[in-house]
Amino acid sequence: MKMDIKTTKKLNNGVEIPYLGFGVFQVKDGEDTVKSVKWALEAGYRHIDTATAYRNEGSVGQAIQESGINRKDIFITTKLPIDAMKKSTQMETFETSLKLLQTDYIDLYLIHWPHTGKNRESWKILEEIYKSGRARAIGVSNFMEKNIDALLADAKIVPTVDQIELHPHYSQHAVAAHCAKHGIACEAWSPLGGTGGKLLDDPVLNNIAKKYGKSAAQVTLRWELQNGIITIPKSTHQERIKANANLYDFELTLAEMKAINDLDANPQPLGMGWNPYTIEY
Ligand code: A2P
Repeated sequence: MKMDIKTTKKLNNGVEIPYLGFGVFQVKDGEDTVKSVKWALEAGYRHIDTATAYRNEGSVGQAIQESGINRKDIFITTKLPIDAMKKSTQMETFETSLKLLQTDYIDLYLIHWPHTGKNRESWKILEEIYKSGRARAIGVSNFMEKNIDALLADAKIVPTVDQIELHPHYSQHAVAAHCAKHGIACEAWSPLGGTGGKLLDDPVLNNIAKKYGKSAAQVTLRWELQNGIITIPKSTHQERIKANANLYDFELTLAEMKAINDLDANPQPLGMGWNPYTIEY
């Protein structure tokens, strides 16, 4: 497939999501977020991923407004936090996100983390939001196979996306295959191995990078795209933001894809984040 920064994936409800997004997890609210999001938009990204829990939706909204880019040309994802599920304040929380992001609809609204006792109630509210047209697509994040199965047993609408921690040291083959079986698109958070991670030192990635005159980060992101995975790298540095979007002038061979696929053969999970298999609410 010929790809560029505007290349999109069609979700199971027909909505198109750009494969490459810009993530703002752990980017400080205020100037840092405003600047980073503006740099990303200048570099051509048209997909921004935030969350209530990141506490920077207001700055994302400000950056989008100030960019002058038409709202409909930017794909915005935000997420319902666990706290709102616990307190049953899902609808108010969604409406606060709309206000902060200065928009009357969200492109993709996700349950941020599974909560065994509250997934069902929350999903019904997301379905209601979707039916009202205030979210173009709804989905989940950090849902493992059993969370997906429990949700599907009762859902009227199949989630469009499951956003999970995923990168070459943590390929999540089982949950990715489960998503594919149900027509749920897989999206990677911490696609570069996360802040403080060791992924970008990996010799396999660096050797491949050398061959193409690219960086380990670009090879990693290219591997995600060629695997059909939506990806949302984060950076607060303009040069990196630009470089992370410069992925379309090279293509990994099948052998290189396999070599990277095999990097997580290690039985020890190398995820940096909380593990939804073991952290239960
Ligand atoms: P920084 O914001 O200082 O650029 P992930 O997207 O997996 O969560 O990873 C983000 C981490 O990787 C951040 O710490 C970010 O730091 C760093 N990072 C982002 N892009 C690059 C890059 N091209 N090369 C090296 N590190 C990067």
